[in-house]
Amino acid sequence: MNPDITIIDTHAHLNDPKFAADLDNVIARANDAGVGRIIVPGYDMPSSRAAVELAKRYECIFATVGVHPHDARNYDDEVADELIKLAQCAKVVAIGEIGLDFHYDFSPRPDQRRAFELQIDLAANLKLPIVIHSRESNSEVMQVLETRMSNIVGGVFHFFSGDCDFARRVLDAGFYIGADGPITYKSSEDQRKVVEMCPSDRLLVETDCPYLSPVPYRGKRNEPAYVRYVLEEVARVKGMTVEELAEITTRNAKALFGNGL
Ligand code: NI
Repeated sequence: MNPDITIIDTHAHLNDPKFAADLDNVIARANDAGVGRIIVPGYDMPSSRAAVELAKRYECIFATVGVHPHDARNYDDEVADELIKLAQCAKVVAIGEIGLDFHYDFSPRPDQRRAFELQIDLAANLKLPIVIHSRESNSEVMQVLETRMSNIVGGVFHFFSGDCDFARRVLDAGFYIGADGPITYKSSEDQRKVVEMCPSDRLLVETDCPYLSPVPYRGKRNEPAYVRYVLEEVARVKGMTVEELAEITTRNAKALFGNGL
């Protein structure tokens, strides 16, 4: 691997308690593996605050702030005001992760929709892109996005799950597609097809750690260093070298989240 190429893990929950005990080692291993930038997304207010704190403490870390659909029932004006304050930090690169989750339905669907819409508007006002979470809610998520397209600066479908038809819709709307560890699983033929059809300039690589560990770490705690396995599999599917794909996905991450990365 060319040491001049910085790999960016665009979605890593280093603010998760599972990293509390050995965070310095996790970050050192990432840097040793060529992962020079890590975006840590918030999913509720404590994790959003923690993401910003990490970004202030570690040069290689950048943050996103937002309220996940799981926590949408708690979204109110006070939360919105604090998100705006947190986003004043120059290392906050997006609002997210936000969206809909009809798999778990931890918050009532009307609350999920309201929090999603309000945070899309908040991101638009701040001129920040969005990190989208969609689980068993793809068409509803697109419906919400399509009513607001003219205001949206940009966004990524984090851990994209859907078929090629849906991917086409997402790409036509201008969004990026996030590829994660499960692309390395035998059963993930659909995800490999999506990656194959997705133009390389619209792909991002992420771990979503501590979850979704790629082979050969499946079932163990995931961490940013393992984004290499995602890169390797995506490169294989696209018939590119890992170096080429690392360079392209890093360029994509900067195009979406800003050159400060
Ligand atoms: Ni996540």
